[in-house]
Amino acid sequence: MDRAIAIEVSRLCKTYDAHKAVDDLSFQVYAGEIFGLLGPNGAGKSTTLRTLITLLHPTSGTASVFGHDTVREADTVRMLIGYVPQERAIDRFLTGREHLQLLGALYHLTKEEAAKRIAELLKLVELESHADRPAKTYSGGMKRKLDIACGLLPNPKVLFLDEPTLGLDVQSRLRIWEYVRMLKARGMTIVMTTNYLDEADQLCDRLAIIDGGKIKTLGAPAELKIALGGDIVSLTLKETDRMAGLESALKNQPAIKAVRLTAKGLDIRVESPEKALPVILESANRLGCSIEFIQYNRPRLDDVFIAHTGRRIQDDIPKEE
Ligand SMILES: Nc1ncnc2c1ncn2[C@@H]1O[C@H](COP(=O)(O)OP(=O)(O)OP(=O)(O)O)[C@@H](O)[C@H]1O
Ligand SMILES: [Mg+2]
Repeated sequence: MDRAIAIEVSRLCKTYDAHKAVDDLSFQVYAGEIFGLLGPNGAGKSTTLRTLITLLHPTSGTASVFGHDTVREADTVRMLIGYVPQERAIDRFLTGREHLQLLGALYHLTKEEAAKRIAELLKLVELESHADRPAKTYSGGMKRKLDIACGLLPNPKVLFLDEPTLGLDVQSRLRIWEYVRMLKARGMTIVMTTNYLDEADQLCDRLAIIDGGKIKTLGAPAELKIALGGDIVSLTLKETDRMAGLESALKNQPAIKAVRLTAKGLDIRVESPEKALPVILESANRLGCSIEFIQYNRPRLDDVFIAHTGRRIQDDIPKEE
């Protein structure tokens, strides 16, 4: 079945001076999905988003939202979208409600319309009881909720979220994921950026991994993991001084697809553990590496990221394990 296309990006480039922040990106976002741009700091995520919301002009290439070009038809595009920026634009002195009222005036909503919509949004993001105190007294999670309410005020068809949960505690992150899923259930299309692997994995229907301004791979998280093939064998070694030796001994073995050093051992990507394990154990033995712990698992999204970019994404959210 052909799916309706909400966003079409074609050969998009954005250059700052000589630096290619976005380098020949092409992708589509389907109507009604949660689409993610996953990448490390400086990958070009915000730049891509700002082009889509008409704030930046592409150096070359095009982008359109529901068929409307983001440069030639910027006004039409702006009427279809809501945007939650990475850097919050919260004023220190206004209350939560006043922020929304100010935006309502910018969007030319009538007073009645604005009041009704604002009441709904404050309820949605659970800020009703805090709406009338200055936003500077809000916690990080509450500020982010207000940001999201601001992005939703124009009742957009497409919502752009730039790093929606950056720096938030686990509870607030889960709340925001809930809102995003609820908005999708109401039929909204959502485009978000993140550098959190678990967020991309759990929230996005499809995602593009971007690094150095380029798309490295694109698909549903589950598809991307399956496409990697095989399993990951993780070794924990008793002493770490022979890790590098074992890494190079394993690298060229036919049963081994890829090897990566970790803090305490090696992550080894294999086609079949049955074939690879004897090779791994034999090499470890020969090099005098004592293995403390061995386990295998299906590829995770961080394995997908590493396989396509050659490095780890900086991932500083504590794992809930
Ligand atoms: N206004 C600007 N002028 C010059 N260079 C810029 C500008 N904005 C972004 N860049 C550069 O473009 C590249 C991409 O930046 P961008 O903000 O899009 O990355 P990002 O993926 O959103 O990163 P982060 O995860 O840190 O938010 C970076 O190298 C950045 O330094
Ligand atoms: Mg950014």
